[in-house]
Amino acid sequence: MASIQSFKRRTILRIVGFLSFLLLCSFVIWTYIPLERVASSLGKNKHHPLVVNSWPPYENPQQPLRQPHDNFNAAYVTFIKGDSASLAGLRMTMRQIEFSVNKEHHYPYIIFSNEELSDEFKHLANVMTPDDIDVAFYDKLDSEYYGYANSTDQKEAEAARIRMNETLFGDSEDYRFSSRFMAGLMFRHPALKDLDYIWRFEGGTEYICPVNFDPFAFMKNAGKKVSFSIALYEYEETIPSLFSNIMKFASENSDIVQSTDNPKSLWDFVIDDNSQGFNKCHFWNNFQIADLNFFRGELYQRYFDFIDNSNGIFYERWGDPVIQTLGMILFLEKSDIQFWENIGYRVADYFTHCPSNKMLYKHCSCRPSQNFDYDGYSCLRKFLSSGNEVFSLPQSPL
Ligand SMILES: *[C@@H]1O[C@H](CO)[C@@H](O)[C@H](O)[C@H]1NC(C)=O
Ligand SMILES: *[C@@H]1O[C@H](CO)[C@@H](O)[C@H](O)[C@H]1NC(C)=O
Repeated sequence: MASIQSFKRRTILRIVGFLSFLLLCSFVIWTYIPLERVASSLGKNKHHPLVVNSWPPYENPQQPLRQPHDNFNAAYVTFIKGDSASLAGLRMTMRQIEFSVNKEHHYPYIIFSNEELSDEFKHLANVMTPDDIDVAFYDKLDSEYYGYANSTDQKEAEAARIRMNETLFGDSEDYRFSSRFMAGLMFRHPALKDLDYIWRFEGGTEYICPVNFDPFAFMKNAGKKVSFSIALYEYEETIPSLFSNIMKFASENSDIVQSTDNPKSLWDFVIDDNSQGFNKCHFWNNFQIADLNFFRGELYQRYFDFIDNSNGIFYERWGDPVIQTLGMILFLEKSDIQFWENIGYRVADYFTHCPSNKMLYKHCSCRPSQNFDYDGYSCLRKFLSSGNEVFSLPQSPL
């Protein structure tokens, strides 16, 4: 009996040993087969979703895009390049927008590019949203939207790029085309014609807290025209003649622009207390919710034509954030602008706005003490204290 039992035990041990050996072999084989070979063998199946080039042509959703409300139309809007790093940044930011805010609201997306975006690119962006959210692409923007103004002397534009090669984006033609598009031309694009509000976002930026309200509805109910999260100083060398041009426009159009004497105006935000010149403060617009009636409206578009004809985008390096800000100063009052204290936002791992309310920030991936708001390069103080009102920064609780 004893020997039969030990025979059985040995047999079982052998079988277990053999099976473990098989398992080990398959593990070794699996680990050493190059993944590309696996992928290319899958490529024989044209419909396999993992395989590059197997994406069907991306069909833009029908116009008008599906909207969650009847009383206003809104969309997330961005401009993007077609490379894989841009796609990764876009997908990350779309995931954060969906997770932090849009899962409750289901607003559509509009994505512009001057480049031709592949079907794979479009599908991989689209899958970041649920099926009932429309994602529309407007790629291959033509020179009417992405290029020089008719009045631009391209020799002079080239000379400026050479002269400014030490400045951030100073040598870039592309930066200037996208700046011109986002400062003004975008608002003339047919893709935005049915919309009342846009939420401009930028691939790679982060929405770092849950947003427990609808910021679009807030803008509408509060009658806000433009909103921002981060305000800072522009590089002097990019805008040598911008402010004198603005003052020229203001004096030639004094009937339509805000008077510097109006205490409700935004002039205090951009006028230096000592020199009375431009302090270079501006609102960043890589996160901006805006009422399109303002940017599409006659006043702002007349101002943009003036900017365009002065060619400072190409002969200097005027960026769209500072161009838009000065347009807001000319035509809006401080009460038209919303600062998003309660939306957590981060750019490039450094420019962070973290809500100071403990009930909010305990759900955020930031600490209120690490706010860019307290940084010497932030212009938030200047905004909060402008318009003869006394404001103070929220105190950092940590
Ligand atoms: C620029 O020139 C083109 C071609 O001559 C013309 O079609 C277009 O209307 C012009 N644009 C402006 C803004 O004048
Ligand atoms: C800018 O151009 C000057 C003159 O051509 C050159 O000496 C310098 O190295 C350039 N700087 C950069 C950052 O390319």
